[in-house]
Amino acid sequence: YFTEAKPLPLKGKRVVVTAGPTLERIDPVRYISNFSSGKMGFAMAEAARDLGADVTLVAGPVALDTPARIQRIDVESAADMLEAVLSRYDEADIVIKSAAVADYRPKHAADQKMKKQEGDAAIELERTTDILKTLGAQKTHQLLIGFAAETNDALTYGRGKLESKNADYIIVNDVTNPDGGFGNDTNVVTLVSRDGEMPYPAMDKRMLAHQLLTYISEKEFDHS
Ligand code: CTP
Ligand code: CA
Repeated sequence: YFTEAKPLPLKGKRVVVTAGPTLERIDPVRYISNFSSGKMGFAMAEAARDLGADVTLVAGPVALDTPARIQRIDVESAADMLEAVLSRYDEADIVIKSAAVADYRPKHAADQKMKKQEGDAAIELERTTDILKTLGAQKTHQLLIGFAAETNDALTYGRGKLESKNADYIIVNDVTNPDGGFGNDTNVVTLVSRDGEMPYPAMDKRMLAHQLLTYISEKEFDHS
């Protein structure tokens, strides 16, 4: 007997993935950013592609090659990333917010290089827009997957972010774990949803991304 080949679980789905840090300009030669390498986000984009999705990858400044068969859009700041994601939100089926978005930006970016002076210096900062929270507030049919980078009380904070941002899943990441976090090829996460929590063992980021998305897509889209 032949059984029909199972179609790929994300076939026909439009997936938007954000990855990497954002960069917030202070002046033409200086900026605020963070240590995100973009590896986990790129791995999520590749995993979505391999499960059959049509993937757009919105990337902050990272030193990674564009994966095959993925549309990449490079952005710099949190404001740029917000615009790139919002303009694709209506037609998206899934948004995966892996990016480490800067929480603050300089209130004024100087047009010219700032000169040092005698005495103390301070840069006035303001909050960036919370992109995931904005998406959560405007959600219609989309599945929203966020990340949470934590150093302590990771699950409590992760559950809080699931609720406050109206996400469907939060992938909680203990960045103090030596096998996880920024720059590493491996990661250690717990998947948090309203159904509960699922811890994953330390794993290569690409393998982990594949397992996370396989689990989520079977749960959300495989109603056969
Ligand atoms: N996020 C976002 N826009 C921001 C800040 C965060 O979209 N301006 C998203 C991240 O991409 C991630 C999730 O929100 O998917 C959680 O990010 P995280 O930095 O862990 O949480 P915050 O809400 O920023 O809280 P804090 O940094 O204070 O822990
Ligand atoms: Ca943050």
